[in-house]
Order: sequence, then C-alpha cells, then structure tokens
Amino acid sequence: MNLLSPNVSAIGYLLAAVCFILALKGLSSPASARRGNLIGAGGAVLAVLVAFLSESLHHVPLILLAIGVGSAVGVPAARRVAMTQMPQLVALFNGVGGGAAALVAALELTEHGDPGAIGAAAGAFTILVGCVSFSGSVVTFAKLQELMTTRPVTFPGGPFLFGGSLLVGVLLGVVIAVQGSGGKPSVLLLVLLALVALVVGVLFVLPVGGADVPIVISLLNAFTGLTVAASGYVLGNTLLLVAGTLVGASGTILTRLMAAAMGRPLTSTLFGAFRASTAVAAVAGDERPVRSGSAEDVAILLGYARKVVIVPGYGLAVAQAQHTLRELAELLEARGVEVLYGIHPVAGRMPGHMNVLLAEANVPYEVLKEMDEVNPQLRTADVALVVGANDVVNPAAKTSPGAPIYGMPILDVDQAQQVVFLKRSMRPGFAGIENELLYDPKTLMLFGDAKDSLSAVVSAVKTL
Ligand code: TAP
Repeated sequence: MNLLSPNVSAIGYLLAAVCFILALKGLSSPASARRGNLIGAGGAVLAVLVAFLSESLHHVPLILLAIGVGSAVGVPAARRVAMTQMPQLVALFNGVGGGAAALVAALELTEHGDPGAIGAAAGAFTILVGCVSFSGSVVTFAKLQELMTTRPVTFPGGPFLFGGSLLVGVLLGVVIAVQGSGGKPSVLLLVLLALVALVVGVLFVLPVGGADVPIVISLLNAFTGLTVAASGYVLGNTLLLVAGTLVGASGTILTRLMAAAMGRPLTSTLFGAFRASTAVAAVAGDERPVRSGSAEDVAILLGYARKVVIVPGYGLAVAQAQHTLRELAELLEARGVEVLYGIHPVAGRMPGHMNVLLAEANVPYEVLKEMDEVNPQLRTADVALVVGANDVVNPAAKTSPGAPIYGMPILDVDQAQQVVFLKRSMRPGFAGIENELLYDPKTLMLFGDAKDSLSAVVSAVKTL
C-alpha cells in the first residue's frame, strides 16, 4: 500500500526487533514469562502491520484469506491444547514456519529477476533447511502424539541413506547457486531439492527415541530460525534476518541446555540409535513383590517427617493435581515439616513444564529447587514424595549402560530415608524402561490417579 515511507518502516521493523529481544529476556524467568510472551506477540503484530502498510503487495485478498484460515486453525488449536501436548503443537507450528519460508524462497527464485549466485545459494539453503524442518517436525509430532512408535526407528543402510540424501541435497543447492549466477534457476531442480530435503528430514528424526524428541524439536526450531534469516536475505527484509537469527541462536542455546540436562552430547542424541543398544526394556508381567500402602500410611510418613522433598513429573500434569499438591504441602508446613520441590529440567514434556504447572497453583518460586540444589537435600530428607514422575528419578540412568536415559543426571530420590511413589500402575515412564526403585524395600507405592491419591492423603493428614 506504500503508506509508510522507507524510513518509517525501517523504524517500525527496528521496534519489532527490539520487542523480540525483550520477549526473549522476559521468557528467561517464570515471573516475567507472560509479559515476555505478550511483548513478542506485540512485536509480531507490529511487523505484520508495517509489512502491509509499507510494501506494494499483490494478491491482498488472497493474503487476507490465508491469514484468516491460519488464524481459524491456529487460535483454537493453541487455546484448546492440553498443557501436556504443548511440545507437539510447538513442533507443528515450527515445521509450518520452516515450510512457509521454503515456499517463499522457491517463489522468489522462480518469479523475480536474476537472484545472483549468493541470492540463489541463500534460496537453496532456505528450501533445503526449511523442508528438513517441515518433514522432521511432522515426524516429531507423530512420535509425541503416539501416531507412530516413540522408539528409535532404524533399518539397515539407514545412516548411508541419510548421508547420501543430504549429500544430494547439498549438491543440488550448489548447482542451483551456479545456475542463479547467470539467470533463474530451473524449477525442476528446486522441486527436486525440496523433495530430497523432505526425505532428509524424515530420516533425520526417525532414529531419535521418544525421550530425546524434545531436543530434536528444539534443534528443528533453530533450523527454522536459520531458514527465516536466509529468506530475509533473499527478500531483502532486515526484520526477517534479525528475527530468524534470534530464533536460530535461542533454539541452539536451548538445544545445548537440554542435551546437557540429559547428560549426553547432541551427537549421541541424534545418532546414538545407529549404534547397538542394550536398553533395559520394561518387563511385561514382572511378578516381583512391591510394597504398596494406603493414603493413611502415606499421611503418617509425611505428617511426622522433618523434611519432605516433593518430586513432580509428567503424571502430575496429566492428573492436573498441582492445586491439591500445594494444599498438601501447606498442611505439612503448618505441622512444621520442611517441604521442598525438586525440579528436574526435563520433568514433564516440555522445558519448564513443572515450573509452569506449579506457578499455576501459586507455589512460591523459592521452594522450587533445581537438581543440583536439591540432590544434597535429598540425602537428609525423611521422605521423597514422587508424584507422577518416573524417568527423572530412575537409577538406571546411572547403572544401566545402554538404557536410553543412561548418563542423564537424575534426582537422587533413592538417597532419601523413604520413597513414596504416587502413580497408577507399575508401567514405565516415557523412556519405556523398568525402574528398579519401584521394587526397593524402602519404597512405598500408593496406586491411583495422582489427584485422587493426593486428595485422600490431604484428608488423612487432616486427621493426624
Ligand atoms: P515419565 O517418566 O514419563 O513418568 C510419568 C509417570 O507418571 C508414568 O510412569 C505414569 O505411570 C505416571 N502417570 C501418568 N498419568 C498419571 C496420573 N494421572 N496419575 C498418577 N501418575 C500418572 O515422566 P517424568 O519422570 O516427568 O520424565 C519425563 C520424561 O519425558 C523423560 O523421559 C523426558 O526425557 C521425556 N520428555 C521430556 C520433555 C521435557 S523437555 N520436559 C519433553 C518430552 C519428553 P502410570 O502409568 O503407572 O500412572
């Protein structure tokens, strides 16, 4: 529409970029995360407005239709999604972003004048990485949504097929860049590149086991950031360059942090399944005795303890038991019991999942202790109360080389005097492996949905 002069639009884009940086700063702490999110969304709205008012756009009705369709699908999906399914949604949104950037780059290369070698190379890079991000994200979605097996999928020749397709993709990119130096690249080659990249994305994610999928989502997110930055170069749009670089950089940092939390180098997360694995699978129908008790038994253990460390996990989110858990903690504190929460960085199904859940129940941040801080406390705790957690307290991470979680630092609940597990059955956690701690003589199992069990324990503590 060209209502804004180039200088005014540049200032608008700059303001939007500042909003994105402030958003990232806000998202770094639970206390300011909501504000950070709003600032980021505000920046995105500003960027769209500036683009509309300053560019001479063609096909405006089609663009508005696309925005309408996207909003009609995206808004209800984001509003309705259960907190436990957030990683899948993020994966899908991220994949669509990568795919969109690839489409924009392909159109730009085919429809407008000579891109030049660098422009064509940037376009080819966008198509390659964007399509990898799209198909890889679709596979991560299918894994987390359990539409397919969550276990690593490997087959003979898989690594060679992956390496070979990647090589073909890169070579196609080089040919496209060379073609671009003397005119428009061939449409056939662009389509071929997109198809090969889609295959690379699938082969990249298939061998990753369920517990590692969040790390790959974060990595694909970083890929999408790079794709968007490259498409910013192709389109000559500074804001896309800045925003893409921010996503690429923050995604890379998050990926590294998550890999560190799992105690493994990133290469082992991505390509570990290609090596032989001797994972300790859960034993179906294991008949070993376990010590189970009633809500009253648990209430007595907790009510007369000096120090209790609560370890929440994915099951707490499923049961939506965070409010009842806080009520129990307050009752115990009123009896003079010291209560702490031990938060594992990958507890639940997304980074910060437990912090978000407990913040929702107004549990003060000060009592949420990170792993390094709480592990020494567990040695002097009378009771470790494990609520719907499993993998993050599974000693197999230390003792079973070959287990998918081997090497992941865990919360040492086995060091507490007594351990109480609130879960519904003896079924394993996300990684699908046996947890020997459930059979330990000092462990007491309270079977049932976490919310029901906690409500029963709350009632029993009140009668002590
Ligand atoms: P898990 O190991 O998945 O264990 C959760 C336990 O909760 C299960 O054993 C399940 O046992 C129990 N449970 C489920 N619903 C329940 C309910 N309604 N009431 C009571 N218990 C219930 O969880 P975790 O210890 O939090 O570990 C997280 C796992 O997810 C790790 O393997 C991690 O790598 C992976 N992961 C993490 C992320 C991030 S970034 N946080 C993302 C994706 C995956 P029952 O079925 O017997 O009840």
